Amino acid sequence: MAIIEQKIEENYALYNGDALEVLPTLPDASVDLSVYSPPFATDSGGCLYHYSSSDRDLSNCRDYKEFFTHYEFFVRELFRLTKPGRMSCVHCMDVPSGNSGCDSYADFPGDIIRLHEKCGFRQASPRITIWKEPLTVRNRTLTKALAHKSVVDDSCDCCVAGADYLLIFRRKGVNAVPVTHERGLTRYYGERKIPHDLLRYRKWKGSQIENRYSHWIWRQYASSVWDDIRGNTGTKAEGVLKYKEARDAEDEKHVHPLQLDVISRAIELWANPGETLIDPFGGVGSTAFAAVRAERKAISIELKPSYYLQSVKNMAHCSPDIEDEEQTSMEFATK
Ligand SMILES: C[S@@+](CC[C@H](N)C(=O)[O-])C[C@H]1O[C@@H](n2cnc3c(N)ncnc32)[C@H](O)[C@@H]1O
Repeated sequence: MAIIEQKIEENYALYNGDALEVLPTLPDASVDLSVYSPPFATDSGGCLYHYSSSDRDLSNCRDYKEFFTHYEFFVRELFRLTKPGRMSCVHCMDVPSGNSGCDSYADFPGDIIRLHEKCGFRQASPRITIWKEPLTVRNRTLTKALAHKSVVDDSCDCCVAGADYLLIFRRKGVNAVPVTHERGLTRYYGERKIPHDLLRYRKWKGSQIENRYSHWIWRQYASSVWDDIRGNTGTKAEGVLKYKEARDAEDEKHVHPLQLDVISRAIELWANPGETLIDPFGGVGSTAFAAVRAERKAISIELKPSYYLQSVKNMAHCSPDIEDEEQTSMEFATK
């Protein structure tokens, strides 16, 4: 099977195929950063979402144990591909056993951490909590335990709207090329308005101690709770790539792409311009899009043909210029 279709351009490569067949064809220590969402396994069996009927699809594993047996092959490949001292970022959540209205939750993030440690990675940061506005979650997922009715009928059956997490792992070893920001952080990816009086420090050439613009951005990124991710805060901002067209007839639920703000922050912090990112569960191409937009290179592997084709379309609209336009038209808070 290996590669069914591919699109190779100067700054990116999109593959339609099973990542477990494509990853082994890539050279050791050839990747600077990975950012991805695996399918989310539930301890009641299977995964929260099923993307296709293919038995190569990790979301079709029969149970939690089998999921981790297969996922381990991916993590071991990512370890081999990652340069020493560099990062792998995994987006995940606490996964419910179902939607009966009285469910239990698996510590999926904890099990991902233990798997990475087993494979030679080390957790490089406390986990980042990505806040999601409860009503938006309820409307999107129809989680029974989130309905106000649950509080009225029997609040023992209610639960909070789960956050997402971004787990940051470092491959053991010395980082040969530091990721530097000579003029501090120049790009803010998020929903807050940057205070107007900081604008004059953008791309500050002087001492970085004085760079209040960069310090402001860093305070947002250094928070253990990212509550300003576009698409998660209940405002109209979608914050994700186009995906609805990628749905096909067999879908019970369709992919919900990873927020571009989340990916872009990881790229800004853990990859230099020109370096290479990989997403082995590429979906509609969110990681590749954010990478190329930020002048990095990307490899995206996706099993499902309709998602792969959507990633090809999404990448056709991607160029580093979009980044500049977006950042210069960014809203600033008035004094
Ligand atoms: C959580 S989704 C990723 C969504 C993606 N982050 C985005 O923004 O579009 C997981 C993806 O993994 C894909 N997948 C599952 N098993 C795979 C495999 N063996 N090789 C490649 N992709 C796979 C699914 O088809 C699905 O698109």
